[in-house]
Amino acid sequence: MLELSEKIRRREARCGVIGLGYVGLPLALEFARAGFRVTGVDLDGSKVDAINAGRSYIVDLDDCEIAEQVRSGRLTATADFGVIASLDTINICVPTPLRKTKDPDLTFVVAAVEEIRKYLRRGQLIILESTTYPGTTEEVVQPALEATGFRAGQDFCLAFSPERIDPGNPHFTTRNIPKVVGGMTTRCTQVATALYEQCIERVVPVSSTRVAEMVKLLENTFRSVNIGLVNEVALMCNALRIDVWEVIEAAKTKPFGYMPFYPGPGLGGHCIPIDPFYLSWKAKMNGFEPRFIELAGHVNESMPRFVVEKITDALNCQCKSVRGARICILGVAYKAGVNDVRESPALNVIKLLFDKGAILSYSDPYVPEIREDWLWLHSLTLNNDHLGSVDCVVVLTDHREFDYAHIADTAPLIVDTRNAFRGLQGAHIVRL
Ligand SMILES: NC(=O)c1ccc[n+]([C@@H]2O[C@H](COP(=O)([O-])OP(=O)(O)OC[C@H]3O[C@@H](n4cnc5c(N)ncnc54)[C@H](O)[C@@H]3O)[C@@H](O)[C@H]2O)c1
Repeated sequence: MLELSEKIRRREARCGVIGLGYVGLPLALEFARAGFRVTGVDLDGSKVDAINAGRSYIVDLDDCEIAEQVRSGRLTATADFGVIASLDTINICVPTPLRKTKDPDLTFVVAAVEEIRKYLRRGQLIILESTTYPGTTEEVVQPALEATGFRAGQDFCLAFSPERIDPGNPHFTTRNIPKVVGGMTTRCTQVATALYEQCIERVVPVSSTRVAEMVKLLENTFRSVNIGLVNEVALMCNALRIDVWEVIEAAKTKPFGYMPFYPGPGLGGHCIPIDPFYLSWKAKMNGFEPRFIELAGHVNESMPRFVVEKITDALNCQCKSVRGARICILGVAYKAGVNDVRESPALNVIKLLFDKGAILSYSDPYVPEIREDWLWLHSLTLNNDHLGSVDCVVVLTDHREFDYAHIADTAPLIVDTRNAFRGLQGAHIVRL
């Protein structure tokens, strides 16, 4: 293992990343930029082909960034797990979804570890990056790998390092987001730290894999709970006829002790709506009943219904019903500037409106189509004809590409869940 640290420092270690999605591809690219030879492994042949052809499928990465590393021979992708035998370091970045019952679904992690187990050899470093409950590395990954007869901390290194990437954020990327690392042993932490130090500006070692796993869940639970709180404040302000957006703008002038969170149609993406339930599941398994997580989840999940109520009331004021109303949704991605619709609350709002008989259209510069069992829509380019022909426009994602001033002039009725029309006045603009 001493040899591995040295190989890493000399950037001669062969790096591997399993799972080339929103997390894995930027990480693989960062290793390649640092001068390592990197192999990405993914089950999805279309992603493998795209990378090898120098094409990006992630909005934050340009084709040329991938192509440059592929051309230099530092980055390559494959669907063949046999390559693991030749790798020195392996980062696992596969999905960790929830089951319908809100229990953790570790199928992808277990499958990836199973593949590593087949090719594990002395001197390798394995790091789990997928968000998961505290104890996963120790209770799930370690025993599976030690079934080979090799021991973590002696024969191979094992660590957990949570990924904190924020897709669509131009200021913080893999390189300048501090990386928390916890190993099974001090030596494991040191070797994993050495790897990240080659390409990430600040590495934060912690005492164990459990602490590193918990750090990520604290961060995401913090967001979920604070968004839940501000969503409840929005519901309260609605009942009290107070503009919640004005309240938040004024509150955030306090220079200490307050951090603004914003209400919206609900939580989306692969992290905030899901990760806290990994924590609550694990807590319950240990006899602890967490209350904030469940309560925030309850409030956040109620928001799509509240938005539909707002739309219904707004149409009602114009003597119209949702049934038969032409409603155009602006933005279906779960947040601005990304093409990710996983868990997007827009899909819930659309489903509720569809069930009530609305005639739906949508526009999203990042999402060309939404295809569900019950509905298949293509994104429209907004023009005056369309805006003038609908009964209501509903903003669910505040993409900056929309020309809100023009929409405010053209659309007959607007329900704005993101305060996208801030500064614009009109009786036809209804805010959350
Ligand atoms: N997306 C984010 O913003 C974000 C941020 C921080 C942490 N995370 C966490 O990182 C992990 C990965 O998330 P993501 O958004 O990159 O997921 P993703 O769905 O974008 O990518 C995962 C990739 O893993 C591949 N994959 C699945 N099983 C595999 C296997 N057994 N072997 C090889 N490849 C496999 C899939 O084909 C896919 O390309 C999750 O645990 C997530 O919670 C995500």
